[in-house]
Amino acid sequence: MFCLVASTRPSFGLFTNRKIATVVSPKLSVIHLSVLKRSIEINSSNNINHQRRMSSEVMANESFEETEKSWRLLLETSMNKSRKIRGSNYVQIATANKDGEPRCRTVVFRGFLNNLPKNHTMASNGGYCDDKPCVMKMCTDLRSKKVEEVAKGGEMVWWFPETSEQYRIRGSLLLVGGRNDDISLQIARKELWGNLNDPARESFLGGPIMNGGRDDEGKVVPPPENFLLMLLDPMYVDYLCLKGAQYRQIDQRHHGDDDNKSQSYWSFREVDP
Ligand SMILES: Cc1cc2nc3c(=O)[nH]c(=O)nc-3n(C[C@H](O)[C@H](O)[C@H](O)COP(=O)(O)O)c2cc1C
Repeated sequence: MFCLVASTRPSFGLFTNRKIATVVSPKLSVIHLSVLKRSIEINSSNNINHQRRMSSEVMANESFEETEKSWRLLLETSMNKSRKIRGSNYVQIATANKDGEPRCRTVVFRGFLNNLPKNHTMASNGGYCDDKPCVMKMCTDLRSKKVEEVAKGGEMVWWFPETSEQYRIRGSLLLVGGRNDDISLQIARKELWGNLNDPARESFLGGPIMNGGRDDEGKVVPPPENFLLMLLDPMYVDYLCLKGAQYRQIDQRHHGDDDNKSQSYWSFREVDP
């Protein structure tokens, strides 16, 4: 017979009332339910190599709480809860300049890259997490400073005031201009250009009459050379929840094992401050 007990543990130097469910067997061996849950490998239904697995680091440490949701699922919920709030898709992206000095600026998050074919390297190499696309789309101008700074990657910070959650999403940054020969990325770039509102399109165009980036018939003109799709391909996500029981979770993308070097997967663990 099994019985359930609950315990508390400190978080951010405070004891929280967040409960950890544990299972006590008749032989008094204590197994965290969360360990049981997380040790079940999640196989994706469409087999895009994005199953989350337990990292050995997590397996070795039983003193963590239940975090059965990946950052990607958590983010989906945060976005849905904040959808109606103006500016809820404004994020900050930090980079380092050539001298290693930090630079940070606000940009608009414009959704996830969801048109990748399954055999695209970005898809097989971590572009999905829990069956959801996780490469993040933004746009920028070739003439801006950040263009020189993306080579070393960057970190996005996204704060959700409604739900008191912070995501710090780190990864490589990729700029896609008109000369990029990746067809999927070109489609995504054109789509994003078409989805911008007229004033946003105008900000990329010069000349006296910009007409919202539309021709005489009202059709959207092709994107100019300086319009760049900016992609953040996440590798590491630090999630912090300050509402109620505070907790922090680290999700990390790992490269595939020897048999499957091209396949990557996400692990996740809860950490103390
Ligand atoms: C609310 C808001 C949204 C912005 N959105 C974008 C954006 O989507 N893309 C962008 O390149 N810059 C955007 N900017 C401007 C940037 O913050 C920044 O000033 C500009 O990109 C130049 O940055 P850089 O010199 O670091 O390249 C936005 C600024 C604000 C305040």
